[in-house]
Amino acid sequence: MNLTLPNGFPIPTPGFGTYKTPDGEVCVNAVREAIAVGYTHIDTAALYGNECSVGEGVRQSGKPREELFITSKVWNTERGYDKTLRACEKSLKDLGMDYLDLYLIHWPANTKQFGDRADAINVDTWRAMERLVEEKMVRTIGLSNFYSSHMAPVLAAANIAPAVDQIEYHPGLMQEDTVVACRENGLLVEAWSPLGRARLLDNPVILDIASRHGKSAAQVILRWVIQNGVLPLVKSVHAERIHENFDLFGFALDDDEMCAMSALPEARFGSHPDTVEF
Ligand SMILES: NC(=O)c1ccc[n+]([C@@H]2O[C@H](COP(=O)([O-])OP(=O)(O)OC[C@H]3O[C@@H](n4cnc5c(N)ncnc54)[C@H](OP(=O)(O)O)[C@@H]3O)[C@@H](O)[C@H]2O)c1
Repeated sequence: MNLTLPNGFPIPTPGFGTYKTPDGEVCVNAVREAIAVGYTHIDTAALYGNECSVGEGVRQSGKPREELFITSKVWNTERGYDKTLRACEKSLKDLGMDYLDLYLIHWPANTKQFGDRADAINVDTWRAMERLVEEKMVRTIGLSNFYSSHMAPVLAAANIAPAVDQIEYHPGLMQEDTVVACRENGLLVEAWSPLGRARLLDNPVILDIASRHGKSAAQVILRWVIQNGVLPLVKSVHAERIHENFDLFGFALDDDEMCAMSALPEARFGSHPDTVEF
């Protein structure tokens, strides 16, 4: 299934994640398997150190490049105009591709690390992202881990508006302020760690709903994300799980089930954008 980005390009949901997928055969096989199952959207990043293997998995799949949607991200050490341009060139070279469908700023520069300069750094990085679109190296550009306070200066300065914000999102962390800011400004929200890095899979509320539908906890969580209008990115290196996580469209959660999952206690498994020091 496809959603539509603000610039009109389709973006397939769910997407296949590759964070902590080891470079080499494991990653090549996981990406090839995911494409065989039907995923056409692959999410990687320079940080993950596996772009060469993602590219190889794509080539081994035999699927034409234009039928796939590939995302990568500029890492925090490469912020700023010139370094961002070079970082994208390197990602494309490692992937063995001549364009990305989506390129994201992985984390905002924050005031904890950069003080008053943080907003200017993010805007400078954004200028490079826009240049990458002009150079046709990237089709769509967006943000990751940006809250409304980080987003506002970029939106004010942008000639090309960000199309996406990729944030930690799962039962226990719905990030309502950020989701509202995204929707008011036309950004699609993508969910990272939708399964809470597997730590939500033994939650009794989720298991009870899953058993009612004859589905797994992972399927029920991914379905909850989709029904909230958010695009999940889900990672696995196991063929049966890769398959399971893609089988999400033959059932639906009712309002009570959606509310029960939305009411789970707060849990954050990743870093907070205002306090990260990497
Ligand atoms: N922008 C960012 O800052 C950011 C941060 C984190 C993640 N991401 C992106 O979002 C993607 C997803 O997030 P994530 O990888 O952190 O976490 P996740 O997808 O929520 O969870 C992945 C974990 O769950 C396990 N798993 C997957 N499917 C399962 C199933 N059906 N049953 C049981 N266990 C299952 C996986 O194990 P196995 O692999 O062993 O099956 C892995 O340990 C990443 O891969 C990455 O592409 C982005």
